Amino acid sequence: MKILLATQKPFSSVAVNQLKEIAKAEHELVLLEKYKEQSSLEEAVKDVDALIVRSDKVTADVINAAANLKIVVRAGAGYDNVDIQSCSAKNIVVMNTPGQNSNAVAELSLGLMIYLVRNTFLPGTGSELKGKKLGIHAYGNVGKLVAGLAKGFGMEVSAFDPFVADSVLLADGVTPLKSAGELYSGNDIISINIPAIPSTIKSINKDIFDNLKSNVILINTARKEIIDEVDLLNAMRKNHGIKYGTDVMPDCHEKMKEFGTRYFSTPKKMGAETEEANINAAVAALNQIIDYFKTGNEKFRVNR
Ligand code: 3PG
Repeated sequence: MKILLATQKPFSSVAVNQLKEIAKAEHELVLLEKYKEQSSLEEAVKDVDALIVRSDKVTADVINAAANLKIVVRAGAGYDNVDIQSCSAKNIVVMNTPGQNSNAVAELSLGLMIYLVRNTFLPGTGSELKGKKLGIHAYGNVGKLVAGLAKGFGMEVSAFDPFVADSVLLADGVTPLKSAGELYSGNDIISINIPAIPSTIKSINKDIFDNLKSNVILINTARKEIIDEVDLLNAMRKNHGIKYGTDVMPDCHEKMKEFGTRYFSTPKKMGAETEEANINAAVAALNQIIDYFKTGNEKFRVNR
């Protein structure tokens, strides 16, 4: 089978070499890295059977150009970059690799928290994570790891996730909360870990911002689309204590600069940019494809 690894943001060479090693016996692995135009991806998918991507945009045009495509694996968690409808319409299986890069993202969340409580390391008195109340929005793979790390820092951890039983949170020493409102209004630091799906787009908005504590830190390692940026700008202008640290640069990045050390964004999404996460996600993606072709295993399919 011909498998295309298409990554605008390439995996580390160690990870790519492992893929080559795994694929070499039975499959042809082709690479399209650091490409600039969607047309390059549309050209490269023409004769491939399988596609591995990161945040690369797998649009209807890409799917329509891929006459032989049978499976797309998003080497990572969020698959909002893949046009699921177009894939399903052509019976193309879509999978992700849940959990494989979560530790890297969780560590970055804690890094952003420290950076902001310490006033972006500029001279002056900062604050500590110890004793602070941390609220985690969504207790998935990343949220759970953030909780564990935060407890190590001596934080008081609570979470809101309507899809996770209270008993799971309690077993981790995490206080279950009943609503997003309760989470955002009652904590000093919030770790936002919800996916970008229709029900969450712009769901972090005025209703939530109006009820934040005065010195709250919001950390977003999820997606920019879940934030209502107009409401965020207004909230930060009104409540001078709000700080926003993000790994997903908002469209209003230039405007956010007016907040100085109250705002920080990584220049490019860095959450999954560790050697370990690259290897885990890339190898899992390839193994899932090989297994799918061999046994039909659809365990990680997201478009059933
Ligand atoms: C994910 O959804 O897995 C993370 O956001 C990482 O995305 P990336 O592979 O594009 O860095």
